[in-house]
Amino acid sequence: MSESTLVPPPPAFAASAHVSSRAAYEALYRRSVEDPAGFWAEQAARLAWHRPFDAVCDADARPGEIAWFHGGRLNVSYNCVDRHAAVTPDRPAILWARNEPGEYETITFRELQERVGRFANVLRAHGVRKGDRVCIYLPMIPEIAYAMLACARIGAVHSVVFAGFSADALRERILDADCAVVITADEGLRGPKRVPLKSVVDEAVANLDGVRSVLVARRTGADINMKPGRDRWLADELARQRATCPIEWVDSEDPLFVLYTSGSTGKPKGVLHTTGGYLVYAATTHHYVFDARPGDIHFCAADAGWITGHSYILYGPLANGVTTVMFESIPTYPDAGRYWQVVDDLRATIVYTAPTALRALLREGDEPVRKYRRDSIRVLGSVGEPINPDVWRWYHDVVGDGRCPVVDTWWQTETGGILIAPLPGAIACKPGSATLPFFGVVPVLVDDDGKVVEGNDVAGNLCLAGSWPGQARTIYGDHARFLANYFARFPGYYFTGDGCRRDADGYYWITGRVDDVLNVAGHRLGTAEIESALIGHGAVVEAAVVGFPHPLKGQGICAYVITRPEFDAWNREELAGALKEQVRKAISPIATPDRILLVRGLPKTRSGKIMRRILRRIAAGDFDPAGFGDTSTLAEPAVVDDIVALARG
Ligand code: PRX
Repeated sequence: MSESTLVPPPPAFAASAHVSSRAAYEALYRRSVEDPAGFWAEQAARLAWHRPFDAVCDADARPGEIAWFHGGRLNVSYNCVDRHAAVTPDRPAILWARNEPGEYETITFRELQERVGRFANVLRAHGVRKGDRVCIYLPMIPEIAYAMLACARIGAVHSVVFAGFSADALRERILDADCAVVITADEGLRGPKRVPLKSVVDEAVANLDGVRSVLVARRTGADINMKPGRDRWLADELARQRATCPIEWVDSEDPLFVLYTSGSTGKPKGVLHTTGGYLVYAATTHHYVFDARPGDIHFCAADAGWITGHSYILYGPLANGVTTVMFESIPTYPDAGRYWQVVDDLRATIVYTAPTALRALLREGDEPVRKYRRDSIRVLGSVGEPINPDVWRWYHDVVGDGRCPVVDTWWQTETGGILIAPLPGAIACKPGSATLPFFGVVPVLVDDDGKVVEGNDVAGNLCLAGSWPGQARTIYGDHARFLANYFARFPGYYFTGDGCRRDADGYYWITGRVDDVLNVAGHRLGTAEIESALIGHGAVVEAAVVGFPHPLKGQGICAYVITRPEFDAWNREELAGALKEQVRKAISPIATPDRILLVRGLPKTRSGKIMRRILRRIAAGDFDPAGFGDTSTLAEPAVVDDIVALARG
């Protein structure tokens, strides 16, 4: 696919889209960057404000001090639930697609209001007050939505931890955010697998005196351990509470949630989002990027435990009064037609998923897709990693029958919502490019020396000038780290950590992370985290982890490990297996290295810095020394030959 091949919006779609031409996009975009206060004040009218804001944005004064809609008071739960329950009580708010095919449950806005109210009263009864952090470790069951909205209702701050994280990882996050209440389920279901969530929680909170209450939803009815005085069945607690729960009106800048994500150094960081700006941004991007409207059935197949789920399963669609689908299962259960079965059964109009899922489905061919009608779909979205042009084509031609625009959306946990994406009725696409910035977003490419790269047909480090309402405000408990991570490398800009090309037509192409962060099957992982997990095993002296191109996962994980001499007698495979297990235990199965190479040494400079670019080359199967770059500063050049010999093995 040549990058100049343009795929224009389907004319029938464009005709009735919110933004229906490139010229209309440009006019609105210009307005949004020339008069951001005016533009965002208008967008803020999507929400109901208890008290109007005094100022739209104060973000320019000091780097990293960001505030939007200052002085305004509102409540996210009121905006996502109550105001719709008042007008469209019988409209489905959530359509829950259970793990088993063909099993669905509908939760209307009226029912959602009752359940969120009851849940919020349970939290209050367990001592949760405004500003307190609540840890949510739940599978994709409606309780995860109730729990998040219940926190928002009383001004508590949720910290959702993806239910695939290990006990160690969960414990670390509970401690970091100082959560006194943890919400979980007996077990989760993921296709054919059962996930023992409660026992993971038991291990995570063992001897954590700060955790007062563990509330347990019953999903499978498995026999689990309940610790008296600490653990309670959620159903019993809910039965004790009435459904009416008064709203806690909060300041626009009061925190809404913390969500942990990986960086290039240190432990995962708790990205903090606040109330007004986040919700305005989620609602506005959902409206424009998915061309959303009342009556849509929005099917975002992500997990609510990631930012995609926060913004586009829950907050964006519900703020806009749009029905949202919660999908408990996996794309290949029981077969590769599962998504499309859900689409047909629920008449989904918007589908939003990750390239890694699409790659797996594409491999199974067209038949599982064509078996279903898919005629309800209007917009197809992609998120989380670069989408290969051939996968984009397949999504467009086969899944969408060439009838539906595909929106490749680039953004991050820290950005709160989509920053670069085509508006589906307005922008001609180039498969593989996220195309053009959303309203109010000003991408800037900066070279390694900090010089802004102007013009088109250029590449650089992707930064953003100015602010947008959905921008993260801090790292929980560590503002200095927030400033150092995002605002220090290129002063005056927010640095994304991504590399990017702006082509001759001004289209943006994300080229992947330029820091030591991996994107494995759409999951963001820090190499430093995996290395420290490996070092946690008694056999390991030193480890270096790099990514390599992987046909299904986008990136695979390769670990180079030096072990203690005492372990030389061990069977190599057994040792590698034990090390993989160690990573699973310390982080999650999603972080398991695909390859472990037990090496005698690592290529280091004379000053002791590991030359990762060499390790990346070797992991990619590229053994030609010409590709290793300047190796004259290597302390021990022979180390490289040893590793190559081993990798060729
Ligand atoms: O490298 C970019 C990649 O995912 C990173 C953000 O990961 P996370 O915070 O987990 O959020 C994922 C869901 C928004 C980015 O720095 N990324 C995300 N979307 C795309 C992408 N890379 C290329 N194209 C995308 N559409």
